[in-house]
Amino acid sequence: MRKSAYIFSSGFLLLIILTQGLQAQSDMRSLRIDSLLQIMTLEEKIGQLCLLNAVTKDVSIRDEIRKGKLGGILNETNPDTLRELQRIARDESRLGIQLLTARDVIHGYQTIFPIPLALAATFDTALVARTAMVAAQEAKAAGINWTFSPMLDISRDPRWGRVAEGFGEDTYLTSLMGVSMVKGYQQEQQGMITGIASCVKHFAGYGAAEGGRDYNSVELSELSLRTSYLPPFQASLDAGSPAVMAGFHDLNGIPATGNTDLLTEILRKEWRFEGLVVSDWESVPQLQTHGLAVNQKEAAAHAFLAGCDMEMASTSYQTYLADLIHAGTISMPQLNQAVARVLYLKFKLGLLPGQILPQEPVHIRLQADSFRDLALEAALKSFVLLKNDHQLLPLSSNTKNVLIVGPMADAPHDQLGTWSPDGHKDETITPVDYLQSAENLSFEWKYIPGLRNSRDKSTESFKSLVKAAKTADVILCIVGEEAILSGESHSRADLHLPGAQEEMLRALRETGKPIVAVILAGRPLVLSAVLDQVDALLYAWAPGTMGGPAIIRMLLGEKQPSGKLPITFPAHEGQIPLYYNHRNTGKPAFTVLSDLSSIPEEAPQFSIGNTSQYLDEGFEPLFPFGFGLNYSTSSLSDLVLSSSICLAGDSVQVAITITNTGHYEMEETVQLYLKDVVAAIASPVKELKDFAKVFLKPGERKKVVFYLNEDDFKYMHPNLQHFADEGYFNLMIGTSSQTSLETGVYFKPLVQETDSQGDNINLKTQLIENEKIPIIKTENNH
Ligand code: BGC
Repeated sequence: MRKSAYIFSSGFLLLIILTQGLQAQSDMRSLRIDSLLQIMTLEEKIGQLCLLNAVTKDVSIRDEIRKGKLGGILNETNPDTLRELQRIARDESRLGIQLLTARDVIHGYQTIFPIPLALAATFDTALVARTAMVAAQEAKAAGINWTFSPMLDISRDPRWGRVAEGFGEDTYLTSLMGVSMVKGYQQEQQGMITGIASCVKHFAGYGAAEGGRDYNSVELSELSLRTSYLPPFQASLDAGSPAVMAGFHDLNGIPATGNTDLLTEILRKEWRFEGLVVSDWESVPQLQTHGLAVNQKEAAAHAFLAGCDMEMASTSYQTYLADLIHAGTISMPQLNQAVARVLYLKFKLGLLPGQILPQEPVHIRLQADSFRDLALEAALKSFVLLKNDHQLLPLSSNTKNVLIVGPMADAPHDQLGTWSPDGHKDETITPVDYLQSAENLSFEWKYIPGLRNSRDKSTESFKSLVKAAKTADVILCIVGEEAILSGESHSRADLHLPGAQEEMLRALRETGKPIVAVILAGRPLVLSAVLDQVDALLYAWAPGTMGGPAIIRMLLGEKQPSGKLPITFPAHEGQIPLYYNHRNTGKPAFTVLSDLSSIPEEAPQFSIGNTSQYLDEGFEPLFPFGFGLNYSTSSLSDLVLSSSICLAGDSVQVAITITNTGHYEMEETVQLYLKDVVAAIASPVKELKDFAKVFLKPGERKKVVFYLNEDDFKYMHPNLQHFADEGYFNLMIGTSSQTSLETGVYFKPLVQETDSQGDNINLKTQLIENEKIPIIKTENNH
């Protein structure tokens, strides 16, 4: 009986599809989904809203699938098991709807790329899209069809362990990176996902967790939320991401998983998002822990009615939705709508009965050479050179003897970083591995770890370390933070190098030998104590599978550093949150106060000035957003605008010349920032609007042209409307957010002319000739 119903339904579906012929994809989708909804039982519908953690040998998962009681599973990675489970869903369940098979493929599947924060440091959207495409190819070959990525949480707090998983502090850069990842993962063809589906997370504001403590409450004004935190989500959804994950946190007191404003008002009503909203891991029953529901049944009702379609890991939907429907708390149309959204995602993946995938999975060799080459390229482009005194790097050919120290020089697991559950440490190449296999090295090297791991506090071996250092030409310290010290629920209050690593650097400094430090970490660390102890400093993040070759090849000058910081590096934890696009305040600081000991005793309250800064840590970061040195040097000149006035509907060309003034090839990132001088809000001191990566040979000059248009001048007004109003903007260009060239541009919107009765007679643009553009100074510190 059940089977015949299935056969009838598939035949019915097929007939509909055939008779529709060339009908648009979206009609076909609705027809398939509507037809399914008509024949699904209540239990089957609720089943589609359940996403459970898979336990490979758990027979009950198979039974649940057979009964149509599961919409998807997560964390199963055995390709044979995945194939078997899909076969059961397809051939043994009444409806034959296949499963969503989800996994956190965050920065690679088996070939591990640098962590997302490091990928952002490449400022290279095409490269980032390629990493996502490879991750999707590998994951898909294993049978995975859905990843919980990209994470688009803006974060201004490096204490937050999850800063590793996002693209840093800037809304524009994060938006670009998010879109690249979505496109890279999905590889859409004619509206169908031929790669794997993405899921943007964690909606929304999660990166502003108070004090950088994970899962903590978030307080954000609606203006800040909409200005800084929401745009990356909107951009990725516009780019085709079919799913959104609600966060664990509460936003202004309302837990995100039960937040109607976020999940329904903004997502559905404002943005017209038609895809799927999934909870985070057990975040539905956690509504009870938040204190929003008296029990799990109420939690299920809350989450569902707020707009959370699918529940991850926990089973409160499975247990209580039927009761809630019978009681009338949830209506059948509401349930159908949530189920339709799951089916919509499945349609796009070709998982509905009778669907033929546009492209059958091709056989992919996991960790193929070309994938590893891409991991090498991504690592190389993500490294940020923070210091290079006396051009110590690249190491000169006179270097004959290198002492390598530090626990991160041979830490294959830690090099992969957080969220790399499918990476293989045995196939990861560390700096020490690479040197061991390198041929024709022009120097001798020796490795003494000095410390067992990054947290080791024992200084026992330092004496022998110092002794060995005395005979070396250069000391290479590869230090940092193990993978477990960042990522989800791994926030830190102290951002110094952990363990005795700083002490080790100080001991080595005493030898007077040149020191190169390479730091592997999942977040910006506070490097104030490190900076004085080293001559050169390369920030390598968690660089992934090919981190070792990338580090050594860069130090030897085979490749040039080109990465730029996607997040501000504070000089002290007490300065956090510290970010480049802060507001000016009414009392901005321009000069740093010296230090506490310079304050005269019983000094009058305002005698040392009254500006916005710390008496003991000033207001400047150690390294600003967008910063990163090259082996070469560059200069920017000839900033020329095609017009000093940008008219609505038109654009202004901003041309700048960049010259490689050094002796190495270089890839420089030219960055363009705007500051709205007078606005309806106190606008940020600057905001990144565009950037361009330029490759230059020594001595080469190139002209870079940016185009500004109305969109670049828009901002969120106090009434939550996003538009540009007339006025002056400072335009700043540099190779970091500490910009070096500045001019002004005037934006002129369309004005509406009215006749004497007040009716609109036309829309026209007014041009003021010879407008004098003042450059108004703002705090230009980062
Ligand atoms: C995390 C998500 C992740 C999910 C599934 C949660 O704990 O917050 O980012 O996708 O687990 O593994």
